Amino acid sequence: MRLSQCHNFHDFRRLARCRLPGPIFDYIDGGADDEVTHRRNTASFEQCDLVPNVLRGVQEVDLSVTVMGQKLALPFYCSPTALQRLFHHRGERAVAAAAARYGTMFGVSSLGTVSLEELRKAHDTPQIYQFYFHRDRGLNRAMMQRAKDAGVEVMMLTVDSITGGNRERDLRTGFSIPFRLTLAGMLQFVIKPQWGIQYVTHERFRLPQLDEHVDMSGGAVSIGRYFSEMLDPSMNWDDVAEMVRSWNGPFCLKGIMSPADARRAVEIGCAGIILSNHGGRQLDGSRAAFDQLAEIVDAVGDRIDVMMDGGIQRGTHILKALSLGAKAVGLGRSYLYPLAAAGQPGVERALCLLRAELERDMKLMGCTSLGQLSRANLRFKSAA
Ligand SMILES: Cc1cc2nc3c(=O)[nH]c(=O)nc-3n(C[C@H](O)[C@H](O)[C@H](O)COP(=O)(O)O)c2cc1C
Repeated sequence: MRLSQCHNFHDFRRLARCRLPGPIFDYIDGGADDEVTHRRNTASFEQCDLVPNVLRGVQEVDLSVTVMGQKLALPFYCSPTALQRLFHHRGERAVAAAAARYGTMFGVSSLGTVSLEELRKAHDTPQIYQFYFHRDRGLNRAMMQRAKDAGVEVMMLTVDSITGGNRERDLRTGFSIPFRLTLAGMLQFVIKPQWGIQYVTHERFRLPQLDEHVDMSGGAVSIGRYFSEMLDPSMNWDDVAEMVRSWNGPFCLKGIMSPADARRAVEIGCAGIILSNHGGRQLDGSRAAFDQLAEIVDAVGDRIDVMMDGGIQRGTHILKALSLGAKAVGLGRSYLYPLAAAGQPGVERALCLLRAELERDMKLMGCTSLGQLSRANLRFKSAA
C-alpha cells in the first residue's frame, strides 16, 4: 500500500501498521483498560445526524477561525503528542512543517522529541506548548519561562494525566521509555527492519524539553516513573490560577470535562478549555468529549473558547463539533498514523483530505462560513 492509496483515517492507520513495529503501533493505537472510551470517542459522532439546507449559493467557503487570539486557516489543529520521533525519524519537525503549510496550530508536548525553540524558529504559525504539573514548582516556572523566551503563543496545561493511564497493550509488549521489551515485543521489531534502520541512522532519540530531568538511558527516570514520581497529584485550582497569572498570555486547560470545572477555568482567567479524555488513554469510562460538548458550551461558551478532541476522523466530525459550539477541534491519531505512514507528506495529505472533506461538507450543508453552523442543523438519535 502506498501513500497515494490513502484516502481516509483507516487507510493511514493500515499503512502505519505495516510500517511500525507492533509495540509502537500499539502505543499510538491503544487506550486505557477495556478501551471503551477510546471506541466511544468516534462512535459518539454517529449518534448525531446532520440536517442540511440547500440553494444557498456556496461557491466560496471560508474555513478560517480565531481561537485563543490566534488566527488559523482551519478550525482543526495538531494536538500535542509525545515521542513522535519513534513514529517517524523526522517526528515533530514533519508535523510542525505540515501544520504550518496548512496554516494551522501545532502543539509541542513536554514529552516531545524536538525542542520547542527549534520548532518555534522554523515556522510562523501559532505554537502551543503543552506541559504537565511537576512537584518541583521551580521546574514548572522554568518551563513556562523557557516557552515565553522562545516566543510560544499559547500555554496548555494537561489536567487529565496526574497519573499514567492503564494501557494494557503497552504492558503486554513491554513498551516503555527506555524500552523494556518482552520477547514477543522484540520479535515485532525484528520483522520491521526498515523502521530500525531509519531509527539508528538518524539523530539520537531525545526529550529536549525534559533532558535534564528524565534519563532515557535506563538510569534516573523512565517515562512511567516520570508520571508517578515527578508529577504532582496535589495540583489544585490555586496552583493553576498562579500559573495563568504568571504566564500573562493565552493559557488553556486540556482535559476539562465537567461544567463546574469549565466555570472554574473561566474564573481563573483561562483563554480556552479543551474537552478531552486524552484519546481514551487515561480514565476508561470517561464520557466522549463530543457527548459533553453542548453542556459545556451552554455553561461557558460565551466567556471562553471551548475546543474538543477525541475520535475525530472525518470532516463531518469536525462539522458536528463546530455546529454544537466548539471553536476548533484537536487531532491526535488522525495525524499520527499519517506521520508514521509517510512523514511530512503523510501529514500533509491527511490535513489536505480533511480540509477538502470539511469544505465539501460545508457546501453540502449550505454554509459558507463557520459562523453559519448551528445546532439547528443537528438532530440527536435517542439512546438505544
Ligand atoms: C500516541 C499519543 C501520545 C499522546 N501524548 C500526549 C501528550 O504528550 N500530551 C497531551 O496532552 N496529550 C497527549 N495525547 C493526547 C492527544 O493530545 C489528544 O488529546 C488525543 O490524541 C485525541 O484523541 P484522538 O487520538 O482520538 O484524536 C497523546 C495521544 C496519543 C495517541
